[in-house]
Amino acid sequence: MSKLFEGVKIGSLNLRNRIVIAPMCQYSAVDGKATDWHLMHLGSLSHSGAGLLILEATAVEANGRITPFDLGLYSNDNQIALEKVIYAIRQHSKIPIGVQLAHAGRKASCAAPWKGGKILEENNGGWMTDAPSAIPFNNDERLPHALNKNELERIKQSFLKSAERAITVGLDLIELHAAHGYLLHQFLSPLSNTRTDEYGGSLENRMRYPLELFKFVRTHIKKDIPIGIRISASDWVEGGWNIDESIQFAIELQTINCAFIHVSSGGLSPLQKIPVEAGYQVHFADRIKKKVSMPVIAVGLITEAQQAETILKNNQADLIAIARAALYDPRWPWHAAAELKASVDVPPQYLRSEPREFKDLFKK
Ligand SMILES: Cc1cc2nc3c(=O)[nH]c(=O)nc-3n(C[C@H](O)[C@H](O)[C@H](O)COP(=O)(O)O)c2cc1C
Repeated sequence: MSKLFEGVKIGSLNLRNRIVIAPMCQYSAVDGKATDWHLMHLGSLSHSGAGLLILEATAVEANGRITPFDLGLYSNDNQIALEKVIYAIRQHSKIPIGVQLAHAGRKASCAAPWKGGKILEENNGGWMTDAPSAIPFNNDERLPHALNKNELERIKQSFLKSAERAITVGLDLIELHAAHGYLLHQFLSPLSNTRTDEYGGSLENRMRYPLELFKFVRTHIKKDIPIGIRISASDWVEGGWNIDESIQFAIELQTINCAFIHVSSGGLSPLQKIPVEAGYQVHFADRIKKKVSMPVIAVGLITEAQQAETILKNNQADLIAIARAALYDPRWPWHAAAELKASVDVPPQYLRSEPREFKDLFKK
């Protein structure tokens, strides 16, 4: 029996298997509104056979967008546009769909990666960015605005409002983005947070705002919607946020009903040195899994079915996520199921594609 294709529960949500399509920014929205690109892209991934599809980093405020083209859930128009896409997908796919709610903080106001990804000036389509402290990502960039307490309250409300919109749109799960150097990660890391109030300094203080925000959203959203988090387990910089602190953070999150933790790394500092290789972040997931009982998702260069199976069989994680492999091969889970002698859901229109040698691959 394949572990990868064994069902799993995240909160009250039942997943058919343990493959998650990781959030992937598309930079293809207009004023935060989903477009036909989203219908094509998500439509394709909705037939991937994965157990869960998580929508890209979706901004809770316009100035929390990484680029002017990020998906958003900060306005009625955003909500209507995404609802259309989700409605269309729901007509043809039963895949559970989550959303990653995000605020980019000091990493907002940038060009799309294929346009160089550099910070955009205010006179060139960019905007003033917010952060825990007035420290830019790169030394030569303009200083972000250090958020005051009223503004921190406003951002909490924005996360909640976007979570409510996500539920109205019909999404099944919420992931708060506290990874990759974006706003919540900026609070956690001593490299980006030098505040002298109760939100900066000690580990307890640096975790305070992300935990308060998580708790605030969790308390106001109905219980049957699982809310989890994505973290960077390490800044990969001496003196930065690290795995021991991540374990403490995970333990705290679990006490406030965090439904899962999705373990990535890096993205906070241009000084990071990441030893990139197959499964290079799995050891972080493993360390965290040993200390918590909530489901742990491992991600990062997991590209082979057998590799994914081994991670789960070794109990290093409860689920695995794939990003680039899913773009390269949107039917990755079908091929993994064939290799591991498991089966996947496919739309009836595609049933005739089942290869002769994999007779029970498709659930009929
Ligand atoms: C095109 C692209 C867009 C991405 N956008 C996001 C995002 O919106 N949110 C996020 O947390 N990570 C994002 N990531 C990171 C992936 O979710 C994933 O963690 C990373 O690519 C490592 O997994 P992989 O080796 O399976 O690609 C993105 C990655 C890619 C390739």
